[in-house]
Amino acid sequence: MNKKLLEIYRKNPKPYEQGEKMFWNDEHISKQMLKAHLDETLESASRTMKTIESSAKWIYSLVENKKNVDVLDLGCGPGLYAEQLSAFGCKVVGIDYSKRSIEYAKQNALSKQMQIDYRYENYLESVFDKSFDLAMMIYCDFGVLNPKERDGLLKNVYETLKPDGIFVLDVFSQYNYKNFKEQEMITYEDSGFWRSHPYVCIKKDRKYNEVYLEQYTIVDDKDIKVYNLWNTAFNKKKLKDEFQKAGFSDISFYSDCTGGKDDEQSSTICIVARKK
Ligand SMILES: C[S@@+](CC[C@H](N)C(=O)[O-])C[C@H]1O[C@@H](n2cnc3c(N)ncnc32)[C@H](O)[C@@H]1O
Repeated sequence: MNKKLLEIYRKNPKPYEQGEKMFWNDEHISKQMLKAHLDETLESASRTMKTIESSAKWIYSLVENKKNVDVLDLGCGPGLYAEQLSAFGCKVVGIDYSKRSIEYAKQNALSKQMQIDYRYENYLESVFDKSFDLAMMIYCDFGVLNPKERDGLLKNVYETLKPDGIFVLDVFSQYNYKNFKEQEMITYEDSGFWRSHPYVCIKKDRKYNEVYLEQYTIVDDKDIKVYNLWNTAFNKKKLKDEFQKAGFSDISFYSDCTGGKDDEQSSTICIVARKK
């Protein structure tokens, strides 16, 4: 165990190197994730309900033909946006790789008598059985993916959109990382986000050009596990290039998913791109 810890601490992972797999389905962590999604005071997993409502409204306003709108929500989590769009009359397919979030979303839709097609699926492997007018991927999940995964996802979404269909997503901007420092922090918890029992958390922050790592090494009485959380900082050119490579055109930028005016000092960039 000591040797493992020494090795983790001595060397930094390569950009986008995976740590523990299936993070989203860990029994304890997924419970904490869902709690964070639903906590109105936290913006760590989902934004506040006020922002979600105005985002959904703005995203829906981008759809030109409002008849039978088919929507694809990638990484839908507990369905906070899917429900809003469903209430506007859209037919929504929501995809997420967290069983707990998808189960919660399904139950919620059932109790509200909403027809939403929630699927427990890895969106990097999705084979779509229908076409969409609008695809969306909200809260900067695109930047978590490595360049090959981003290319594959964009091509797949492009293929599944109807002609004139749009893809809306947001990413963290380079401005968001202006104060980022490489550092380490060690904390002890009797019980917390990572484990229900006592553990030590060693957090390492690292920067590799435009790629950022928050690495959490969790040490408990039995084991050491490493979780690598990656993120990519974008500028508009980089984002546009990736979308154009996949075939998208008619690209426009906003500061966020509520349609805020494009702003160099925004922590996020929202892109709207069309399949022509
Ligand atoms: C930051 S959360 C955003 C959730 C939701 N869009 C929102 O803003 O409320 C990212 C979501 O993506 C899901 N996710 C991550 N990787 C995924 C994958 N490969 N396939 C499907 N869902 C994934 C996670 O389970 C999580 O619910």
